[in-house]
Amino acid sequence: MSSLLIRNIKTIVQAETSRRSLSKGAEMAQLPTLDNAFLLVKDDLIHSFGPMTDCPDTADQTIDASGRMVFPSWCDSHTHIVFAASREEEFVSRIRGLSYEEIARQGGGILNSARRLQLASEDQLFEDAWQRLQEVIGYGTGAIEIKSGYGLSLESELKMLRVIRRLRTVSPIPVKATFLGAHAVPAAYKDKRADYIALIINEMLPAVAEEKLADYCDVFCDKGFFTVEETAQILQAAAQYGLKAKIHANELGYTGGVQAGIAAGAISVDHLEYTGDAEIAALLESDTLPTLLPSCAFFLGIPYAPARKMIDAGLPVVLATDYNPGSSPSGRMSLVVALACIKMKMLPEEAIQAVTLNGARAMELEDRYGTIAPGKVANLFISKPIPSLAYLPYAFGSDLIETIILNGKVWNGPVSNK
Ligand code: NIG
Ligand code: FE
Repeated sequence: MSSLLIRNIKTIVQAETSRRSLSKGAEMAQLPTLDNAFLLVKDDLIHSFGPMTDCPDTADQTIDASGRMVFPSWCDSHTHIVFAASREEEFVSRIRGLSYEEIARQGGGILNSARRLQLASEDQLFEDAWQRLQEVIGYGTGAIEIKSGYGLSLESELKMLRVIRRLRTVSPIPVKATFLGAHAVPAAYKDKRADYIALIINEMLPAVAEEKLADYCDVFCDKGFFTVEETAQILQAAAQYGLKAKIHANELGYTGGVQAGIAAGAISVDHLEYTGDAEIAALLESDTLPTLLPSCAFFLGIPYAPARKMIDAGLPVVLATDYNPGSSPSGRMSLVVALACIKMKMLPEEAIQAVTLNGARAMELEDRYGTIAPGKVANLFISKPIPSLAYLPYAFGSDLIETIILNGKVWNGPVSNK
């Protein structure tokens, strides 16, 4: 057994003495912390923590964390990090005045990424995604969900999901996989969308289930993409294979997507830039989590989801990066935390709950990740010296992470592929 002792910690953040599975409403501002503390890791697990007065004398390895805070690693529950190429030409088109939806209607956007992905080899996709995964681990992410959805054909969707499976075999952090065949209707099916939905249901889903390639099924239920009826049809079919729903909804309008997700028993409904009283009321009646993606709203210049209103109504809020080449080319969770505070008026404590415990819950990983609790996996990071918790979102451009610990070991940075 190997032991790692972190001493003189200024504050342990999300230090749980009694386990919670979620934080919602007013509780979100009550972030459990412990000042002037030690944390003991044994093998890959958090063994114990407590005040420095109770600190053990020795361990195999000791880190002095004077002036520094310890956080559980971020849990990023919504990403699309398998893609073939960046899309900065569309970014420039948007600067010149085109909207995200106009670009999509002209065959850009998701269809652009799909064309590029179909041409890419599985090996190349893997190498690129592995670099991105290591990049985000370096930003403090310690659990991640990754979606398919740039394949849009049986062969290419399976290719993406196999890349995700391969990432899981090398990744030091847990990876959840989501099948997103219904991300957009491919060009070849423009005038026969029912045929594409039949392809998803009759060919893609059985193949995905056969190879056990996904944990969840996603649909982009929104204006110009998939309707509420189509979404229900796909999610019902996915449920037959044991795939739970986790969907994109209400990014582009009040489409009923949130209610469609709830009706399907979705783990989460994600985006929610267009959320009104009806959506909030429906969420309050359900166990479905609202996941907000502020770096997407920032990048596309669309409204931010009403996080404040949701929390004040008693809802739990989850925050994630949506890292993808079109609407959020950033996997930096600390930027998400800062945007949530600056643009959505979430308190720093609330934002931290949303990217740790609630993010873990949105991937059904809350028993093992998302807080500092004895028995959980030791995925955590030590900050640089910082004056307070609020300094993290306040100093929004600074890189404030000093040491990353994954599975109880200090992580030494990206592995070169060369
Ligand atoms: O979550 N909104 C749908 N899908 C992605 C963006 C896809 C893209 O533009 O490539 C998102 O924003
Ligand atoms: Fe997304």
